[in-house]
Amino acid sequence: MRLLVTGAGGMLGHAVAAAAREGGHDVRALVRHELDIADGEAVERSVGDHCPETVINCAAYTDVDGAQDDFAMAQAVNGEGPGHLARAAAAVGALIIHVSTDYVFDGSKREPWVESDRVGPLGVYGATKLGGEVAVATANPRHAIVRTAWLFGAGGRNFVDTMLGVGAQRDEVAVVTDQLGSPTWTGHLASGLVELAERGDDTGVHHVAGGGACSWYDLAAEAFKRAGVDCRVQPTTSDQFQRPAPRPAYSVLGTERSDPVWLPPWQDGLQGYLDERMAVSSA
Ligand SMILES: NC(=O)c1ccc[n+]([C@@H]2O[C@H](COP(=O)([O-])OP(=O)(O)OC[C@H]3O[C@@H](n4cnc5c(N)ncnc54)[C@H](OP(=O)(O)O)[C@@H]3O)[C@@H](O)[C@H]2O)c1
Repeated sequence: MRLLVTGAGGMLGHAVAAAAREGGHDVRALVRHELDIADGEAVERSVGDHCPETVINCAAYTDVDGAQDDFAMAQAVNGEGPGHLARAAAAVGALIIHVSTDYVFDGSKREPWVESDRVGPLGVYGATKLGGEVAVATANPRHAIVRTAWLFGAGGRNFVDTMLGVGAQRDEVAVVTDQLGSPTWTGHLASGLVELAERGDDTGVHHVAGGGACSWYDLAAEAFKRAGVDCRVQPTTSDQFQRPAPRPAYSVLGTERSDPVWLPPWQDGLQGYLDERMAVSSA
């Protein structure tokens, strides 16, 4: 299949391009300077030139705190860019797979969020990502909106990396126990997105994230244990860590779809990432 991947310089985008190539697909992977998704005319030209059968959009403004003070940029990239891509995909008859986020939810539930649950983003990032979902669904009936969560993987800043860096330098780190989510390795998610592309017309909203749930505290502790890092994790709470953007307390993703794309448990994803890091550092 001819696949166009946008945001291919990012953590997820480069994993998606690699997984699609491994799957034998004809992949055009565009980094930001090759295609700015906020530029509607450039998007129309680029999608028209490449004429893909499927577009996978991994481009986004992902600075959750930065978005609080930069609505215009977050909206241009997260809210409007996906609409440009979806319209251009529709014009060439392509499916668009658009990656969205657990941060479209307000975190008030205490059981996994399913696709039809009421959205209610707490911050600008989540609100603009929700705008992107609406723009995609409006512009192209052949769409799959994939909400995912708590990504870690090679080629991008992520929590696991940060913790391993801190753990190498300090004896102790405080991590919050009162935010729960679905940690997801980009390697697993990338395969899931390629599977969706291959399914073709499994349209609508999909929740696709690592299996199980945990807190940031649990994730840090498990990363240290598996990586053999000797650093104590002290439990703390979000009120001790004031940040510009509020985060949902509970954003675990579940699904109500009859044939969902299942990913392995988050612990397997963590191991996959640690193995990936090891392979890169010893190459
Ligand atoms: N990271 C998470 O925990 C998480 C959780 C849930 C959902 N998601 C979603 O997953 C997707 C992938 O995120 P990620 O973690 O891979 O983020 P990332 O590493 O920040 O990658 C995003 C990529 O998009 C690029 N980009 C930004 N503005 C662009 C524009 N106008 N046109 C084209 N490209 C642009 C960025 O380029 P520059 O680096 O040059 O800015 C970057 O390469 C996003 O949709 C995000 O909302 C992420």
